Amino acid sequence: MTSNGKAAGSGELFIEGSGQLRLVDKSAEQMALEQGKVECLGLSFSSEDERRSHFTHKLREKLADPEFRKIPGFPKGSDDDIIRMSDPPWYTACPNPFLAEFVRVYGKVYDPAVPYERDPFAVDTSVGKTDALYRAHGYHTKVPHLAIVPSILHYTEPGDIVLDGFAGSGMTGVAAQWCGSAPAEYRRQLQAEWLSQGLPAPKWGARRAVLNDLGPAASFIAANYTLPFDVPAFSRAAQRILTDVQKELGWMYETLHTDGKSKGRINFTVWSEVFTCPECAGEVNFVEEALDVDTKRTRDRFPCPHCSAELTKDNLERDFETLIDPATKEPWKRVRFRPSTINYSVGKGTYEKPLDENDLRTLKRIGEMAFPREMPTNAFPIEQMSHGTRLAPKGFTHVHHLFLPRATHALAELWRRATAERDGRLRNMLLFFVEQSIWGMSLLNRYSPSHFSQVNRALSGVYYVASQSSEVSPWYILDGKLKRLSSAFQALHSSNGIAAVSTGSCASLSLTDECIDYIFTDPPFGENIYYADLNYLVETWHRVVTDTDPEAIVDSGKEKDILDYQALMRACFEEYARVLKPGRWMTVVFSNSSNAVWRAIQESLGTAGFVVADVRTLDKQQGSYRQVTSTAVKQDLVISAYKPTKALEERFALGTSSPEGAWAFIAEHLGHVPVFSAIDGAADTIAERTAHWLHDRMVAFHVQRELSVPLSTAEFLAGLFQRYPERDGMYFLPTQVAEYDRKRTTAAELRQLSLLVTDEATAIQWVRRELQTKPRSFQDLQPAFMREIQNWARHERTVELKEILGQNCILYDGIGLVPSQIHSYLSTNFKELRNLAKDDPALIAKAVGRWYVPDPSNQIDLEQIRERALLREFETYRGSKERKLKLFRTEAVRTGFKAAYDRRDYKTIVAVAGKLPDSVLHEDEKLLMYYDVASTRLGDE
Ligand SMILES: C[S@@+](CC[C@H](N)C(=O)[O-])C[C@H]1O[C@@H](n2cnc3c(N)ncnc32)[C@H](O)[C@@H]1O
Repeated sequence: MTSNGKAAGSGELFIEGSGQLRLVDKSAEQMALEQGKVECLGLSFSSEDERRSHFTHKLREKLADPEFRKIPGFPKGSDDDIIRMSDPPWYTACPNPFLAEFVRVYGKVYDPAVPYERDPFAVDTSVGKTDALYRAHGYHTKVPHLAIVPSILHYTEPGDIVLDGFAGSGMTGVAAQWCGSAPAEYRRQLQAEWLSQGLPAPKWGARRAVLNDLGPAASFIAANYTLPFDVPAFSRAAQRILTDVQKELGWMYETLHTDGKSKGRINFTVWSEVFTCPECAGEVNFVEEALDVDTKRTRDRFPCPHCSAELTKDNLERDFETLIDPATKEPWKRVRFRPSTINYSVGKGTYEKPLDENDLRTLKRIGEMAFPREMPTNAFPIEQMSHGTRLAPKGFTHVHHLFLPRATHALAELWRRATAERDGRLRNMLLFFVEQSIWGMSLLNRYSPSHFSQVNRALSGVYYVASQSSEVSPWYILDGKLKRLSSAFQALHSSNGIAAVSTGSCASLSLTDECIDYIFTDPPFGENIYYADLNYLVETWHRVVTDTDPEAIVDSGKEKDILDYQALMRACFEEYARVLKPGRWMTVVFSNSSNAVWRAIQESLGTAGFVVADVRTLDKQQGSYRQVTSTAVKQDLVISAYKPTKALEERFALGTSSPEGAWAFIAEHLGHVPVFSAIDGAADTIAERTAHWLHDRMVAFHVQRELSVPLSTAEFLAGLFQRYPERDGMYFLPTQVAEYDRKRTTAAELRQLSLLVTDEATAIQWVRRELQTKPRSFQDLQPAFMREIQNWARHERTVELKEILGQNCILYDGIGLVPSQIHSYLSTNFKELRNLAKDDPALIAKAVGRWYVPDPSNQIDLEQIRERALLREFETYRGSKERKLKLFRTEAVRTGFKAAYDRRDYKTIVAVAGKLPDSVLHEDEKLLMYYDVASTRLGDE
């Protein structure tokens, strides 16, 4: 029997193909299974069949409960179809009702007394894309398991539970297992790499994974990737299917070799769309006319075979034919396609030829066969699909329209035989194998003459039927796949009890609070990929399809805009925050597409209760991670966020804030931010440690919890200066500073944060930075300032340098001692001014007229003056009759929003937000934060 708190399993030695020994972790369940016993969630069974039937019965009972079916994201499918796809309790093609039990039996109860400390850790999401296991089953935008393994090793211990609620094909689960089954060479390399970076050696051993995805197509892949199966038995069964289908339908793929006697085996048939010539209305077979046989490329221009008029892809006219829909028997209008060439094999030779009479007769015979019931006939939800416009105008409105008659029969036969397998686990693996040919055997499979192989040539991420398509045979697509699949899975050594997979919305995970040790997740990034639409094709074969309502996506077809996306992501992150143990980490990998999407992610992370400690991107050229400090368009980001500790959250539990609470937050945050980072011998200025970032984080922490901000900017800056040691413009915990000092000596220079001056806030940062290193006069600074403001945002009112200096800096007018900052600059840079007292006339003469950055205690007065000026300006926006403000100071809006928030005047925030251009509101983290809270509050009233 399993017991609570047990690690993933014990090590067992295997002999690898190379002859090397490999230590592999197996769960207690797996070891019991191999001794002829089946243990599952603390229960014993005499066989896997008995286990499956016990939990299937329980699942059926759950499915009968109407409340269960009301869980958001519950897929659309009958009880029988959901049960057929599932393998309970490890996998259900609906929200998994056994998840809570899974973590109860295998997890470790949260204990605040157990110390846990980790620094943020960045991953390279591009490594491992050629790995055989990664390629065992495709999915849109996969993150390779080898990219995830180091993170899991860093943040967790063997046996810990890792969660991915947007799991897609389940690579997080594969990575969790890989931590226990990695080969010796991989372990040696990673260990050496970590050692060279001063990191402790990884603790090898499998972790457990809870995986969830909204799409049944995705969760099915994830389950089959992570649940163990008998690899040799699978290979045999899959091979048998391929052989049997060959016996049954092989005749459909036979052709007569050009020698007139040998039988050829068709690999693929090229089909061409047929257009009409705009000049003579003659028929134009696209492949025959446009394809250059020598170069294997489609020509941009080619002559009409009838009238010689010059033709291009754009001037050809689409031609339709009316067929009889094989499923409905109704007339069906579709673009015209003709078979053009056959690629076939005789012995070891491969040949090509046009279709002959026999080939056409075979096609005719296939066309007359009864339509197989396995082929789905669902209508595409064209109106709600962003890619609907690519399908419907060509006549593809239903799933079966995408399959030519021969592919229809072949796929149906493969599916029928896989489904007939009696062993539930093998059956799912066989479907996992067969379903990989659904896209590839459809008309979406473009003909790519310049590629050697025609396998999987569909355009990724869209439904696109090209004008030339290759209709491949089942063996052409699946023979090689079977060999690769079998050998890839041999290396994983997956194990029962290691993964639990669920299907539903990440916003409604049936997990208990605070049970997860680490989250690695890769959410949808705005508007790039329409997962549910794309999964529909495969899901209709399983007859269980995604509930698109909670899909976190920007999609005009489904009337979801960026604000809907933000709200959906927020709900998912809130669920993550609920189930993660306090003080633990979440890594969000995010392929950013636009500023607005990036802001939406940041905002939803914060409002959900997470605090971002580090954002990095991989600099591909340097092979190192750069921190991301400003707008981050079109980058692959790795966001490290933590859930604050219980002790910290409890300070705010009563809905009140205090300066002590704010400082407790800063202490906790400094404890989570990297202490030192260097690339190529230059130390980084870590943005999260600079005063303004810390201030912004402190404000956001309060506003996102709808608490008042207990410290003014000036009070905060003065307090920071008093409480924490400062180095290179960054603040540290007293316990961190020695480490920084030690590592800093290894770096020759300090790299400043990159700064693009686009508005007043960035202009102030620039001026302060310039004066910090060199206090100087207005005249000296002005030319450089003019150069810096070339990228000033169009909507942003110009702010004069004089104004910036007056509101943020201090002018030394020659009265009193020379300020320390100017003194130290002059004595370092001018030989004749060295070692002079601060009241020395020569020093005063050189110092007078120079602007310098006030120390935090002087800054209080300046901040107040500036704030008053900005609020005056904000009032003009509030009173403005303009429907939309064209030119304004964003800093004034930010200050006005903060003041309105402090006095709970949410109406003002929403009213002024309504006057801002949408792009400004949605791309400014601070404005968006106040606006979100204000609109939520107004909605609640
Ligand atoms: C970027 S993909 C994840 C791919 C995954 N990393 C992999 O390697 O296969 C994002 C996934 O989020 C899923 N998704 C979208 N909205 C969701 C929601 N509300 N809850 C759970 N999953 C959701 C999509 O179905 C998609 O599979």
